[in-house]
Amino acid sequence: MIVLGIESSCDETSVAILKDGKEVLANAVYTQIPFHEVYGGVIPEVASRHHVRKITYVFEEAFREAKIEKEDIDLVCVTHHPGLIGSLLVGINAAKAFALTYHIPYVEVDHIVGHIYANYIENDFNFPMIALVVSGGHTELRLMKDHYDFTLLGETLDDAVGEAYDKVGRVLDLAYPAGAKVDKLSSIGNPSYKLPVVLLEKDSYNFSLSGLKSAVINTVNKCKMKGEEINQANLACSFQTSVIKVLVSKTIKAAKEYNVKQIVVAGGVAANQGLRKALADAVSSELENVKLTFPQMKYCTDNAAMIAVAGYFKYLLEKKNS
Ligand code: KG4
Ligand code: ZN
Repeated sequence: MIVLGIESSCDETSVAILKDGKEVLANAVYTQIPFHEVYGGVIPEVASRHHVRKITYVFEEAFREAKIEKEDIDLVCVTHHPGLIGSLLVGINAAKAFALTYHIPYVEVDHIVGHIYANYIENDFNFPMIALVVSGGHTELRLMKDHYDFTLLGETLDDAVGEAYDKVGRVLDLAYPAGAKVDKLSSIGNPSYKLPVVLLEKDSYNFSLSGLKSAVINTVNKCKMKGEEINQANLACSFQTSVIKVLVSKTIKAAKEYNVKQIVVAGGVAANQGLRKALADAVSSELENVKLTFPQMKYCTDNAAMIAVAGYFKYLLEKKNS
C-alpha cells in the first residue's frame, strides 16, 4: 500500500510517500525557519503564504525522490489538527484535491499522534507503551494500550517544553528556534545556577514549566542589573538539567505504574541529546525489559512521513471497524 502524507500545520511544508506503513520512499521538507527567525517566532499569516507558494514544488520533489507516479498512491493522509488554521488549510485542500482527482481515500491525522508514530518508522510498537510528547506546542504523557488507543495521563499546565526552550534561548540571544542551540550550549556547561525543579503534586503526571522559564529570565535580568556577566553555557545547562529531571522522573514513574513494555519519545524536543542520554540511563538502571525509542533526528521535528505512518494505521482501523 502506497500512502501520501502531507504536513503543513506550522512552519514546515512537507510531503512524504510511504510504502506498507514503514518504508519511507520520500520525505520532502521545506522549512520556513529563516523567514520567521527575524521575528523570534512563527508569524501565522507569513507561514500560510509560504505554504501556498511552496506546496506544489514540495509535492513534485517527493514524487521525484520516490520515483513513482501519482496514480500509484492508494491513500492520502493530512494533518488536520492542532496547528495554525491558515497553514493547515493549505495542506488539507491539497490533500482533498489529490484524493478527488485520483479517486482514493482521504484520512485526517492529529499532529501529535503523527509525532508519536514517527517512532514506528524504525521500530515496532510493543503495547502497553508510554509516549512522552515533547514538542514546541505540547508536553504530554500518554498511555497507549494498542494502536490509536490513547489515555492522557498528564500534560503541561502552562508552557510546552519546546516553547520554554525557545523563550530561554531568546533571553540568551539565540536565534529562533533555540532548542537545539540551548542543548548544544548545555553540553559544554555545568548546572551552576540554582533553578527550580517543578514536580507538582506527588501523584500528578502534569507538568509546569513557566516557573522555571521565569527563573531563567529573572536570573538574566538580575545579572544585567548588577552588571555581572552571564555564563550562557552554565545557565543553559542549569535549565536543561531541571527540565530533564522532571521529564525523566514522570516518564519512569508512569512506565512503572502501568507496567509498560516500551517508552517512545515524540516531538521536536526528542532531538535533545541531554534528554536522550538521561532517559536511556534511567531506563537501564530503573526498569527491566523496557524498550526506549526516539525517532531518527530528521523525524523528530515536523515532517510528513510521520503523518503518513499515523494515517496508515488510522485507515486500517477504520476499515476493520466499518
Ligand atoms: O515538534 P516540533 O517541530 O513543533 C511542534 O509540533 O510544536 O518541535 C519544535 C520545537 C521547537 O520549540 C524547538 O526549539 C524544539 O522543538 N527543539 C529542541 C531541540 N530541537 C528542536 N528542543 C530542545 N533540544 C533540541 N535539541
Ligand atoms: Zn510538531
